[in-house]
Amino acid sequence: MDYLEIEGGSPLCGEVRIQGSKNAVLPILSAALLNPGITVIDNCPDISDVKAMLEILKGYGCRTHREGDSLVLNAEHLHSGRAPEDYAGVMRSSIMLLGSLLARLGEAFLPYPGGCVIGERPIDLHLTALRKMGARLREEPEGLKAVCARPQGADIYLPFPSVGATENVILLAVRAEGDTLLQNAAREPEIVELCRFLNCMGAKIKGAGTSVIRIRGVKTLHEIRYRIMPDRIVAGTYMFLAAAAGGKILLRDVPFEQLEAVRHILKGMGIRQERSGKSLLLWCPARSRGEIQVCTSPYPGFPTDLQSPLTAALCLADGESMIEERIFEARFKVVKELQKMGADIRVDGSRACIRGVERLKGAFLEAEELRGGAALCVAAAAAEGTSRIYQYHYIARGYENIIRDLKDLGVVVHCF
Ligand code: UD1
Repeated sequence: MDYLEIEGGSPLCGEVRIQGSKNAVLPILSAALLNPGITVIDNCPDISDVKAMLEILKGYGCRTHREGDSLVLNAEHLHSGRAPEDYAGVMRSSIMLLGSLLARLGEAFLPYPGGCVIGERPIDLHLTALRKMGARLREEPEGLKAVCARPQGADIYLPFPSVGATENVILLAVRAEGDTLLQNAAREPEIVELCRFLNCMGAKIKGAGTSVIRIRGVKTLHEIRYRIMPDRIVAGTYMFLAAAAGGKILLRDVPFEQLEAVRHILKGMGIRQERSGKSLLLWCPARSRGEIQVCTSPYPGFPTDLQSPLTAALCLADGESMIEERIFEARFKVVKELQKMGADIRVDGSRACIRGVERLKGAFLEAEELRGGAALCVAAAAAEGTSRIYQYHYIARGYENIIRDLKDLGVVVHCF
């Protein structure tokens, strides 16, 4: 597909079920390598990042197939091959394989990870922590060569609570000799989900969801069937879509507890929210309230992944808002696209000042990364007239079928 065409400007009406979580399933796919048998993952989102990860896993001998929304993996016969560069080189989550490959095979070679172009995204915290556990790492021109014959438990302090580094340490520590104490660990719900998955496989992890995680290494892990939790970022994107376009929508399978910071902002924007079981009904006025001040920060703060969809919604809100991006410096790339639609945004370093305008105009837009691309869908659905969004493939990395979801919410969308 070349581009999406969205006819915006009408209030939303409809309902959508939230897909399984991308950021939960990717480290869990890596963790599946630790089980030398069958792993079944239910509610696995059908997104291109998962497809790329499966291609990488196949490169190491893991067999996989889909059965509806479930994924079956057989990691019985792994070998220390090379991850196919076409996939690993463009996907940041491939770094997540380092811990599990070292735990299972004692060695790994990974092309340098890619991913969304939202900043520098170094991997120094991963490397320092894994070295403490006995890994020997050599940076070669084409990628990273790692060897760790006998991983050892260690006391590790992360200078920043990196999600990926926390996951990599856990993946190696579950099979290491002895205990690992991980301090200043990330507290994101995806860490809790990974640890729950590993504990169901026989691991011994305590403290997930707090900043101190204790892991006792075990000799073996066993077969498992596991259901992936819903995606809080997809849910949040559709919440801000409704805030931007107005109307009444129902979201089903919403991970409420994980969205407190987001729901607090929505409340400030004048959006009425009614919870019923796992569903959320949103009533949004034609124009939401602005004058919002937000800083992105590690969980339980406001998530950086929802900063761009929020920015898009605030472009139309009544009043001046301020957003500070503290995690990924290049998130404001999407601002120049929003400005093409008539948005009044001034960026100064890590801060953006957004003065809400009464209307945005449809425009030809270019997605440059995943969440920025989703933000363009939010703005286009709320703008008057027709917008085109090119480079849809970025959005497909994390949204299973945003075209279907937008249609189900009453947006007129075509793809070409
Ligand atoms: C994960 C999520 C991503 C989300 C991010 C922050 C997945 C697949 N991706 O990314 O969607 O936006 O968490 O919630 O789960 N850093 C270093 N050195 C390192 C590692 C990270 O300096 O070795 C810095 C990064 O540049 C960034 C910050 O730490 O400024 C956060 O990165 P991290 O938490 O590691 O994010 P990811 O795991 O890459």
